[in-house]
Amino acid sequence: MKKFIQKLTILGMALALVACGGKKEEEASVIKIGSVLPLTGGVAAFGQASKNGILLAQEEINKKGGINGKKVEIIFEDDEAKPASSASVTQKLINNDKVISIIGAVNSTCSIADGPIATQNKIPMITPVSTNPKVTTQGGEYVFRACFIDPFQGKILSKFAIEDLKAKKAAVLYDVGNDYSKGLAEFFEEAFKEAGGEVVASETYNTGDSDFNAQLTKISALKPEVLILTDYYNTVGLIAKQARAAGIDAVFLGGDGWDSPDLFNVGGEAINGGYFTNHYSPDDTASQVVEFKAAYEKKYNEVPSSYAVLAYDAANVLFAAIEQAGSTDGEKIKDSLKNIEYQAVTGKIKFDEDRNPIKGAVILKAKDGEQKFVKNVKL
Ligand code: PHE
Repeated sequence: MKKFIQKLTILGMALALVACGGKKEEEASVIKIGSVLPLTGGVAAFGQASKNGILLAQEEINKKGGINGKKVEIIFEDDEAKPASSASVTQKLINNDKVISIIGAVNSTCSIADGPIATQNKIPMITPVSTNPKVTTQGGEYVFRACFIDPFQGKILSKFAIEDLKAKKAAVLYDVGNDYSKGLAEFFEEAFKEAGGEVVASETYNTGDSDFNAQLTKISALKPEVLILTDYYNTVGLIAKQARAAGIDAVFLGGDGWDSPDLFNVGGEAINGGYFTNHYSPDDTASQVVEFKAAYEKKYNEVPSSYAVLAYDAANVLFAAIEQAGSTDGEKIKDSLKNIEYQAVTGKIKFDEDRNPIKGAVILKAKDGEQKFVKNVKL
C-alpha cells in the first residue's frame, strides 16, 4: 500500500510538471498587457472609446505578426472611475494575470492610485489621458503618459481667456474630490492671476453633487466674463444649464474632460458657445490623423474622440518600447520607454524627466452639438 501511494505521488508530481511546462510555453507565446478603464460608471463614454482605440492597435499589431513574433493579448478591467477599484484591478492584473505592462487609467484620481502599485512591482504603466502632474511624480519611475499635463492646459485656457476673449474677470467652479478638476482649476487660477487677470470667485463642490445653485448664485452676483468648469462632460453639462438659469452670461471654458457627445446631451443649448482645450481635432489634416481616423471609422462607424486616439497612441508607443527592449522584462521596457521617440497620431512622443511628453493642444468650440476646431496652441 505504501509503495502504491508513493507511486501515485510520483505520478501526480510528474503530471503537475507536465502541466506547468505546458502552461509556461503557452504564456511565453503571447504578450499579456493589462488595461484599466472606466468601462461603467459616470464617465463610461471615456472608457468605452479608450477600449476601442486599444483594440484597434491590438488588431493592427497582431495582423503584422505581433511583437517580436509574439501575439499581443490585452486583458481589460473596469475601474468604474473609482480609485479604490482601480487599485484593486491593477493588483489583480499584476498578481493573477501576470501582465507585463498596463495601459491606464483614464481618470487622474485613478491613475494616481495605480501608479505606485505599478512601480512597486516594476510593471511599466502608461496612461493615455490622465493629465494631473501627480500621476507620474507620485507614481514613480515606471509610470508614463501619452498626453500633456494640466499646468500646460491651465495656462492655455488662461491665455485664451485673456488674449482671445479679452476677459479680465474669471470665476472657477470645481470638484474638490477629483484631482483632475481641482488641479486644472488651480493651474488656471495661477496662470490667470499671473497674467494680470482677476479671479472673482473660486467655488467648489463634491463628487456626485447635482445641485450647484448656492455656488452659482454667488458667482452670478460677481459678474465674471468667463466661468471655468474643469469637470467631466456630464457634470459640466449640468452646471452649464443651472448657470444659465441663475442668470450667468459668462463664456464657459473647460479642459479635455468636456470631450464627449454627451456634453451636448446633458448641457443642451446652455453649453453652446463654450470653449475647451483638447488633445487633437478630428479636423486635423496631418497624414497620420487622416489615416487613423479612416481605420477607426471603418471599424467603429464613429469619429474617434481624443481619448480613443490617445489610448491608441499609448498602446502603440508601449508596443514599440517592448519591441525595442527585445524582452518582456519590466525594467527593460521601462528603460526603452525612457529613451523612445515615437511618431504618434497626436504628435511626437518623447518623454521628459518626469515621463511626460511635450505636446501641443487644440482649442475647440462647443456649437450646436458639434466640436468646432478653433486653433492649434503651443506655449
Ligand atoms: N484628463 C482627464 C483626467 O486626467 C481625463 C480625460 C482626458 C478625460 C481626456 C477625458 C478626455 O482625469
